[in-house]
This record gives sequence, C-alpha cells and structure tokens, in this order.
Amino acid sequence: MAADSTAAGPLGPPGPSAPITAAPASPSASATTAAPSDPAVGKPDGREQSTRGRGLGRRAFLGRVGLVGAGGIAGGVTGALVEHATGSNGPSPRERERARAVAAVRPTGPHQPGIADPPAAHLVFTAYDLTGDAAASAAQAHSALRELLTAWTRAAATLMAGEQPASGGQRTLGLAPSALTVTFGLGASALTRAGLATRIPPQLAPIPAFPHDQLDPARRDGDLAVQICAEDPMVAASAARTLDVLARRHASPRWRQHGFRRSAAASDDPTGTPRNLMGQLDGTNNPAAGTAVFDLAVWADAGAPAWMTGGSYLVARRIRMVLDRWDLLTVDAQAKVIGRRKDSGAPLSGGSEHTDPDFLARTADGSPIIPANSHVRLSHPQFNNGVRMLRRGYSYQDGLDADGDPDAGLFFLAYQADPRTAFTAVQRKLDRLDALSAFVRHTGSALFAIPPAAPPGGHVGQQLLES
Ligand code: HEM
Repeated sequence: MAADSTAAGPLGPPGPSAPITAAPASPSASATTAAPSDPAVGKPDGREQSTRGRGLGRRAFLGRVGLVGAGGIAGGVTGALVEHATGSNGPSPRERERARAVAAVRPTGPHQPGIADPPAAHLVFTAYDLTGDAAASAAQAHSALRELLTAWTRAAATLMAGEQPASGGQRTLGLAPSALTVTFGLGASALTRAGLATRIPPQLAPIPAFPHDQLDPARRDGDLAVQICAEDPMVAASAARTLDVLARRHASPRWRQHGFRRSAAASDDPTGTPRNLMGQLDGTNNPAAGTAVFDLAVWADAGAPAWMTGGSYLVARRIRMVLDRWDLLTVDAQAKVIGRRKDSGAPLSGGSEHTDPDFLARTADGSPIIPANSHVRLSHPQFNNGVRMLRRGYSYQDGLDADGDPDAGLFFLAYQADPRTAFTAVQRKLDRLDALSAFVRHTGSALFAIPPAAPPGGHVGQQLLES
C-alpha cells in the first residue's frame, strides 16, 4: 500500500413468456453484428446504429435484427413493439433498442463479438487457469488449450444463437438470445505453459505495478479469459455455467467478476451515454465502431504477430470507488475532478456532451477551466500522443466489506491495439496526478490477448495453436 494511503483512512486513497425464436441465419439477419466494416454499425453504445435504422420500415427493421421468422414477428417481443409502434415512420429508437436487446448477435468478419458490439446490460467475466493434466507439460497444455477452445467456440456459437447446448442444462429455455456475446482471451501465462513463450506478443508485456495499486492477488491474471455479455442476467449466468462445465477437464475458474450497466431499453434515451456508479456519463469520448479511429485504436496493428491479425488486447482492472467520500463532494467539485459537467457530460469549457474540450480556456483569474489534475485532461488523446482505447467497462456492486462499506465500483475493461502505449502510459499519469485517484483504488488487474474470430469451422486461437 502506498505510504500516503494510510492518511486517508482504511478505504484508500492512494494519492491525490412465449419463447422468442431467432430467425434463421441470413445475410439480413446478421445486421445486429457489430462488424466494424458494416456501415450500419455505430458507436459501442449503439448511437449510430439506431440512427441508421431510421429509414427502415418496421418489418424490414425487425427482419434485420433477426426477429421475423417465416411465420411473422416472433413471440414475446410483439406486444412491446406494437405498444410503441410509430406508424409509417418506422420503429422508434426505443423499439429498435428493445428488438436489439432480445435478438441474437451473429458474428461475422475478422473480429470476435463483444468488442465493437454495443455492451449489453449484464457481464460475467471469468479468468481461468489450466489445471490437472493440462498443467503437467507443455505438450499437454497445448493440446488442452486446443480441445478447450474448440469446445468453447462451438458452445459459444450455439449459445449466441439462443439455442441450448448439450451441456447447457436447459437453463435458458423460454428466453430470447438477449444479444449474448462471448469473447475469449489468452493470458501470456497460457502461452508459456503451452511451450509458446517465444510467440508471446510484445503487447502482452506485464502491466507494471503502479505506486498506488492495492491489488488483491486473488483478483489478478489468468491463463484464459471469457467475457460474457447479455441483456438478460440469466442468459449471461447460464452461459458462464455452460463454459465452466466444458472447462472442467482442463481448466478451473481463477476469479470471476459480475457487472452491470443501465438497461438501454429502460432508458429515456436508449442511445445515450450510460452513467457509472459515481453518476458520471462514462464513455462519451470513446472511439466509434465503424470508424478508422476505432480500427486504429482497438485492433492489433502491424507490430503484432500474424496470429493476432484482427485481434485486440484487453486490460481488465477492478477499480473500487470510495463512494462514501465521493458522495460528500458538491456536484461542482465532482465536475472539476473529471473536467466535465455531471448533468450533461459537457466539458467544463462549454458546449454540449460531444463538444471538444478546450483545454486552453481560462477562468477570470487565469486558472484553467478544465483543471490540470482533472481526469479528462490527463487521459485525453491530445496529451497522450493521440492514443485512444475503447473503454467498455461495467459497474459492479459486490456487497459490503468487513466495515460495512460498499464494495462497489467500475470493472474497467479497455480494448486497445497496444496496452504499452495506451492503458499503461495513461495509467502511469493517472496514478500520480489524477484528482479522481483520491476516490478510487485499483484492486484487480489482468491483461489478455483477444485473438481474432475463429476461422470458419475452427476455433478461437487456432491461428496460434495450429501454425
Ligand atoms: C473508477 C475509475 C474511473 C472512472 C469513474 C472514470 C470516469 C471517466 C469519465 C466520467 C470520463 C469522461 C467521459 C468519457 O469520455 O467517457 C472518462 C474519460 C476517460 N477515461 Fe476514465 N474513469 C476511470 C478510470 C480510468 C482509467 C483507469 C483509465 C485508463 C488508464 C481511464 C481512461 C479514460 C480515457 C482515455 C478517457 C477519455 C478522455 C477523453 O478522450 O476525453 N479512465 N473517464
């Protein structure tokens, strides 16, 4: 623990009904897939996706999201959609959001799902370690990885289509596919165990220890990672259980984190930026899927090994919020910590949420309007060599600690082309200088390579394990 954390007390801080049937796979039904090259796909929060749907008629729209089967509009969503029908103008944003939230994501293209797609409301994230025979020798680890990733890839496809895998326990009978995505990752330790240490990408270099880290060894690292996102919590939890069962012979869970975001379908503005547990709009300046900026920020670049082409790197940090302290601040003081207004998310220099911050703007007494130690000033690409990352994190609330304080915060998940120049470079500054540091503490950390999508008929990681 950092020397100055004691002064701040024990909490920190460190420093400053009818089953819904998915339509058969068809080119049009795959439109829910957030392949970045698909112009219909928008920001990770779905903003552009919804706007682009505006020209579609109701039936055409439902067909695109995979809800019109041969017999017409499928079961349980019909009532909701009729209730909000907007006549000849096509579906409203909320209709579109509700339809998207129950439909199946049908991955296409070079990337795994769960990265460019709008984040669903519920998360189950698990890190696994190779165990038993799989940990006995490099050859056994290699073949265990192949077997496990083959079984997981197949099961994930079945689950995402809203079908019951053989090992699924029929837990989700009667539930829609719920925009389920399953994303697999590999830790550097898995490659070492499998005798592939020489193929560890330089981008997987360990995240350095930061002076104010308070990492719990029980919430660190892992040989494998699985990110499961779904709009329905039962669908997410059941998928996690299915993958646990399939892992049994070769791997066991090392740590698990549940998370949640607001349900877009329940929101006044389903396409707007969601809030985190501090109450801030979080995700405003994320790169938008489908843009060159996103592709550059997120997908592995030319410096990555060939087996990672189309892949990404994921940094996971469990960041506890010291909410009892945060909630004592006035709203104005909270805005200064971030550098954005709390209500609208607009930069303190003026404008609206998506106006560029003016970091040169000064108050009458000459001090910067967006404070020098504000989170946004320190993390903005302008002061970080233009580097960006896709922040796709989830709030978590894990009950109370021994003192009765809420163990709640942000499970920070950031996809990026190179964590050395993105997460690590930015966090080095935040850890030292960020005004937000007095209200958060990092308690978990992991880094994974997220391989590209499985080749047709193959498994995730095949480009590494079979070349
Ligand atoms: C609990 C911890 C954190 C909270 C509550 C938080 C909250 C926020 C908020 C409210 C914004 C402004 C709106 C937006 O653009 O999304 C923001 C921006 C940002 N944050 Fe964080 N953040 C946290 C941790 C981190 C960490 C650990 C990093 C990376 C090391 C990070 C990187 C960024 C970046 C790159 C931006 C965008 C800056 C810009 O382009 O304007 N944040 N964060």
